[in-house]
Amino acid sequence: MKFLEVIQTRKSIRSFADQEITDEILQKVLLAGRSAPSCQNKQCWRFIVVKTEEIKKKLSLHSGLIGTINYFIKDAPIIIIACANPKRSVKLNNQEYYLVDTAIAFQQMMLTAWNFGIGSCWLAAFNEHKVKSILSIPTEIRVVAMSPFGFPREKEKLYAKAVSKFSGSKKRLDLEKIVSYEKWKF
Ligand SMILES: Cc1cc2nc3c(=O)[nH]c(=O)nc-3n(C[C@H](O)[C@H](O)[C@H](O)COP(=O)(O)O)c2cc1C
Repeated sequence: MKFLEVIQTRKSIRSFADQEITDEILQKVLLAGRSAPSCQNKQCWRFIVVKTEEIKKKLSLHSGLIGTINYFIKDAPIIIIACANPKRSVKLNNQEYYLVDTAIAFQQMMLTAWNFGIGSCWLAAFNEHKVKSILSIPTEIRVVAMSPFGFPREKEKLYAKAVSKFSGSKKRLDLEKIVSYEKWKF
């Protein structure tokens, strides 16, 4: 895909086809994260790649904030958990840059995956404590996000359709609402 096409067509995917992701593509996705910029080049991010059915099932059933809200992730061939060590990053102007750095890297991974036709869905609705316990993540590490990665199912499942409709996923604010020139004019 062309770069702008990747950006413009990307969308959250919540139903997955029964199709593997090759190690070659996975490597490219991970390298895209690795190449991201980070504050003072601290590279505080760490990524856990989960492919094992048993662990995927645990994450899908036991990591949600509300019940089994993340259940759909069990159908994805891969789940990636984006973590960071805040102590390895920088705090400037009262901003925690581990969040910014890890988000940039993860988004680069998601866009690269989409370039290969692989969908993902940023997840914030997880219980960090439970995710850490399932994956043996040390106390000082923060779980910033997690996402399933997989080829989209041809026919979207009902849950996926409902969430997408509920979140109004296609809607975006007009540029005039989010951009002003020369000074704050909102
Ligand atoms: C920080 C963040 C947290 C999100 N958390 C969730 C989530 O927990 N569950 C979910 O299904 N989607 C989640 N999403 C996906 C959003 O609902 C989605 O990006 C938004 O509706 C726009 O739709 P699109 O990604 O298809 O363009 C999250 C997205 C972001 C950026």
